[in-house]
Amino acid sequence: MNYTKPMLKDGSLDNQVIVVTGGGSGLGKAMTKYFLELGAKVVITSRNIEKLQKVKIELEAATNGIVLPVQCDVRDYKQVENVLTETLKAFGKVDGLLNNAAGNFISPTERLSANAFDTIIDIVLKGTKNCTLAFGKHWIDTKQEKATVLNIVTTYAWTGSAYVVPSATAKAGVLALTRSLAVEWAKYGIRFNAIAPGPFPTKGAWDRLLPGNLKDKFDMTKRVPVGRVGEHQELANLAAYLMSDFSAYVNGEVITIDGAEWLKGAGQFSMLEDIPQEMWDMLEAMIRSKKNK
Ligand code: HXC
Ligand code: NAP
Repeated sequence: MNYTKPMLKDGSLDNQVIVVTGGGSGLGKAMTKYFLELGAKVVITSRNIEKLQKVKIELEAATNGIVLPVQCDVRDYKQVENVLTETLKAFGKVDGLLNNAAGNFISPTERLSANAFDTIIDIVLKGTKNCTLAFGKHWIDTKQEKATVLNIVTTYAWTGSAYVVPSATAKAGVLALTRSLAVEWAKYGIRFNAIAPGPFPTKGAWDRLLPGNLKDKFDMTKRVPVGRVGEHQELANLAAYLMSDFSAYVNGEVITIDGAEWLKGAGQFSMLEDIPQEMWDMLEAMIRSKKNK
């Protein structure tokens, strides 16, 4: 199996300028690295400029690509507009926006302050809205021929999830925004898609979702039918495809990459996975014996 290997051919993102929010860590960093390997110039943003500057040095050395770090809290529209200004100053254009920045932590909802709930909504939903609006207005005003927005959501964007309610609420909003603008802004040449990843271990997510010994207590691999968590490269492969012109006819789609984790949780009889093979003869006989009785 070579799912840990790069998928697209060299140069697939040549001459592309892509902005990745939250590009200095975790999945954002992994996707940034692969975009650079494929020839894109990448603007990475987050609240922590020192971290971004270190990542610039690391990724430029690893890929021979060009990285522009720009400090930006996605909750602040003015800072988002500044990312656009700095990007245009450095590269003269922008082709892609990857809304990846997020905030999240587990908590019983009744323990949350109003500000705690708002904080997650503001980063995830309002942050995605801020970036999308600022970049979208630019693309429409300048009549750019084509542009691509890729939003990172979660599978609980449509199922909901207990204990991460602000995140679920916000990600559901991001999914609605993705699908709505895929239709409304197609006439401007702007495509919108989303990726819903299952568990892909990162420090940022695991520290806040599986703190302490929860990591051992709730082994994520056991939740996934394919029996493992995701590799960052396989997410990067999908993101690069959706950013590239190869996916020009894919618009308004959310692609799940979770080894069927959410469907296992949804399927009413998924628990039968625990039945030992040798018991099935007996169970079948019991069921057949009820025929016509
Ligand atoms: C209850 C909490 C809390 C907690 C913070 N708050 N942590 N409430 N339980 N564990 C409250 C604070 O008390 C405050 O409310 C409010 O939330 C804002 O907290 P701040 O620390 O001031 O916010 P800020 O500095 O903006 O930091 C944002 C953050 C932080 C979200 C709280 O964790 C962060 O910076 N996260 C960024 C990275 C991240 O979360 N990565 C994971 C993404 S994983 P009061 O009322 O006291 O003012 C993901 C994966 C999903 O999305 C799917 C996985 C399978
Ligand atoms: P992560 O490393 O914690 O990434 C979150 C990023 O967002 C960080 O780089 C962080 O940078 C940035 N960020 C947070 N608040 C911000 C703000 N207000 N303004 C600007 N940037 C901000 O976690 P991750 O696991 O890689 O998550 C990346 C994306 O994948 C998120 O959208 C997440 O919901 C999604 N996801 C992850 C998983 C998983 O299993 N890991 C599963 C499903 C979905 P700073 O702290 O420097 O600002």
